[in-house]
Amino acid sequence: MKPREIKRGVYWVGAIDWDRRLFDALIPLPDGTSYNSYLIKGNKKTALIDAVDPTMKEVLIEHLDELKIKTIDYIIANHAEQDHSGAIAQMVEKYPQAKVVCTPKCKDMLIDLLMIPEERFQTVADKETISLGDRTLEFIYTPWVHWPETMVSYLKEDKILFSCDFFGSHLATTDLYVTDERQVYEAAKRYFAEIMMPFHTIIEKNLAKVKEYEIDIIAPSHGPMHDKPEFIIKAYNSWVFDKPKNIVVLPYISMHGSTRQMVERFVEALTENGVTVKQFDLTVTDIGKLAMALVDAATIVIGTPTILVGPHPKVVYAAFLANALRPKVKFVSIIGSYGWGGKAVEQLAAMIPNLKVEVLEPVLCKGLPREADFKALEKLAATIAQKHKSEGFV
Ligand code: FEO
Repeated sequence: MKPREIKRGVYWVGAIDWDRRLFDALIPLPDGTSYNSYLIKGNKKTALIDAVDPTMKEVLIEHLDELKIKTIDYIIANHAEQDHSGAIAQMVEKYPQAKVVCTPKCKDMLIDLLMIPEERFQTVADKETISLGDRTLEFIYTPWVHWPETMVSYLKEDKILFSCDFFGSHLATTDLYVTDERQVYEAAKRYFAEIMMPFHTIIEKNLAKVKEYEIDIIAPSHGPMHDKPEFIIKAYNSWVFDKPKNIVVLPYISMHGSTRQMVERFVEALTENGVTVKQFDLTVTDIGKLAMALVDAATIVIGTPTILVGPHPKVVYAAFLANALRPKVKFVSIIGSYGWGGKAVEQLAAMIPNLKVEVLEPVLCKGLPREADFKALEKLAATIAQKHKSEGFV
C-alpha cells in the first residue's frame, strides 16, 4: 500500500494490520486493524499526525521516503498508547528537528513508555493552535478517548478532525473512507464498548466539544475515515445518550447441564414476555460481542454453576468485565445451580459495585432444576419484563 492523498498536501501514511487477532493481549480483533498516520504539508511546516504501532514502523518510514519527506517539524501525538506512538522513537531519530506536540500528560507518558528525551517535546494547551504556513492545526483536549491524556487535532482550512481512537474501528480495509456503513457500525460499536464505554459520561462532554467544529472528514487512527461524519457522530450519540433497550444479556456457563436447562427455560419465558435476549455461552463466546451487547441492554442475568463454593471462574471474568465496562444496565440477577451449597450469589453481587443497579431475586437450584425452579425463573422473567415496561425501555 502506497501513501494516499486525501486532500492536496494531506496524506494517509499509515499501516494496515490484516492479521492481528488480539489487542492489549485481551481484546479479540476479528477483522484486524489499521494504525492510521497522516502527513500534512503546509507551505512552511510539515506535521505528522500519530505514528504507527512499533511492529509497523518500517511501513511508515517507507511511506515518508516515498513522499520524499526530508523534514518533519511537528510529530503530533494525540495519544500515548503504543499503537499510535510506538514509532515516534524512530521518527525523532529520523527527523532531528521535529518536536513532539502533545498534552503535558501525554508528554509524561511518552517519556515513561518510550524514553523520548524531554527536550524533544512541545506541549500544547486545550484549543492551542500551531501554524504550518497556509494551514493551521488546533488541538482539542478530549480526555479518556481512550486514556486521560488524549486530544484530537483539527485542520482548520480543510475541516479535517484527526480523532485517534475516538470514532475509530478495528477494521483492516483498503477503503480510505467508509463504504459499508453496516460493517463499520459493528466494528465501531465493538470498539466503543471495549474501550470507551467505561468513560461514557466524559465522552458526553467530548461529543459536545467536537460539535462546535465544522467537520468535513473525521480521520481516526483505526479503520476507515468518515467523509459523512454525521454517521459516526450519530452512532456515538445513540450509544452514549439513548435509554437502555428492552434487552437481557445472559452470559452463562453450564458444567453438567443444570444451568443450561435453567437458561433454556428462562430464555423461553423472557421471549414470551416480549423481552429480547442475547445469550452467551462463556466457553465459546467472543468477549467483544458480549461487550457490544452491554451497550444497549437494560438487564444482565448471569448464569453459573457452583464450583469451589463460588461462581465458575469464567463467570467471574464476565462479571469483572461488566463491572469494568460500566454499561447503562439497570437490573441484575443471577441464576444457576449448586451441588451442596455455596456463596455464588454473594460473591458475584460483591463483584459489580460499579453497576448502579437493582438486584432482582436470584434463582438458584440444588442439582437439576425442578418444577418449582422453573416457576421461579418464569416469575423472574415476568418481573424483568414489567420493570423494563415501567422504566420506559419497551
Ligand atoms: Fe488505539 Fe488507545 O490506542
